[in-house]
Amino acid sequence: MFFKKESEKKENKEKVTRKKVSNVKSLGIDLGTLNTVVAVPAGDKFEIYEIPSVVAVKKEDPSHVLAVGEEAKLMLGRTPEDIIAVRPLRRGVIESISQAKALLIHAVKKGSKNDVSSVERIVVGVPGDVSEVERKAVEEISKEIGIKNVITISEALAAAIGEGLPIADASGTMIIDLGAGSSDVAVISLGGITDIETFRYGGDNIDENLVRLVKEKYDVEIGLHEAEKCKIKVGMVKCNKELENKKIKIIGKCSKTNKPKEITVDSKMVAEAAEPLMKKLINALSDILERLSPELISGVYKRSVVVGGVSQIRGLKERIYEEVGIPVKISNDPLKVVAKGAAIVAAEPRALEPEIRLKAMK
Ligand SMILES: Nc1ncnc2c1ncn2[C@@H]1O[C@H](COP(=O)(O)OP(=O)(O)OP(=O)(O)O)[C@@H](O)[C@H]1O
Ligand SMILES: [Mg+2]
Repeated sequence: MFFKKESEKKENKEKVTRKKVSNVKSLGIDLGTLNTVVAVPAGDKFEIYEIPSVVAVKKEDPSHVLAVGEEAKLMLGRTPEDIIAVRPLRRGVIESISQAKALLIHAVKKGSKNDVSSVERIVVGVPGDVSEVERKAVEEISKEIGIKNVITISEALAAAIGEGLPIADASGTMIIDLGAGSSDVAVISLGGITDIETFRYGGDNIDENLVRLVKEKYDVEIGLHEAEKCKIKVGMVKCNKELENKKIKIIGKCSKTNKPKEITVDSKMVAEAAEPLMKKLINALSDILERLSPELISGVYKRSVVVGGVSQIRGLKERIYEEVGIPVKISNDPLKVVAKGAAIVAAEPRALEPEIRLKAMK
């Protein structure tokens, strides 16, 4: 009995200690146009939660949020008349504060396992060209839900940290982030961004262009979801390397008869739809390279990584090399690196301070 009590005590104590440890919570959040990713530092790994950036709201009062994330995504296109499912972010920018707040609360709840009050610090990734108003909005939202310590970090810098790139190095690295609604090309050296090009164009635009091309070619209307499926399954970008022209069959609505019609989309059609994004990317890369100091060129040559969902499209590595002569690496973890990098900073915010960066140089 005695022993049992002792061991019970021990067990309780352990629980208390563990609880205390798990109470010290810092979260990294990538508030994306399509996906919101939460990373919680857990030893030298992370717990990751992925939430579709969708909320369901009342049509009459869009600030009235009824469902968030997975639950809201299921409602997309299927809601009764008085409810709509929407995305709080468009092209990487917060469109509705109340909806973004609901999404952020949901993310913090998930990351903290419903123990929001235990969260001491969050680090939120924001696009490179975020305005002061947008940055403040993220901070205000976070404070409103009771988190005093909020840091916003450029998504590109967070991605570099999440990729494990030597950001403190003086010789430079480059991150290309191709997201759903916005894209960044950023050069990083001495722990900070030395140059960045951001354009509000990304994977969503490929889907939209594909819908248009299918309509032009077949006189058939397809949904954005179908277009995204084609892009993911058979997508590629134009490049000199011979890539297999894959095909996928999908059902759309014939504009003439209003009847369902099966059509075939191939890789070449997706490449056509992706070409405007490629042009913008090549322009951004060319501008960055034009301004790049010779001290940083070898670091950029050796250490450029592409992150974000669109990094997965076939032929991208080849196309970038052909156009600008940089042999980029495609991230192994393209959707989560921003959140992971943000979580690393959340656990150790001093990593971003100039003195620490200088020390790392020595
Ligand atoms: N295998 C794939 N091939 C091509 N595109 C893909 C693939 N997988 C995902 N995508 C696209 O990547 C985009 C989502 O990427 P990501 O999650 O990085 O965006 P986000 O962070 O939500 O957006 P943003 O950074 O613009 O706010 C979508 O357009 C999606 O369709
Ligand atoms: Mg992103």
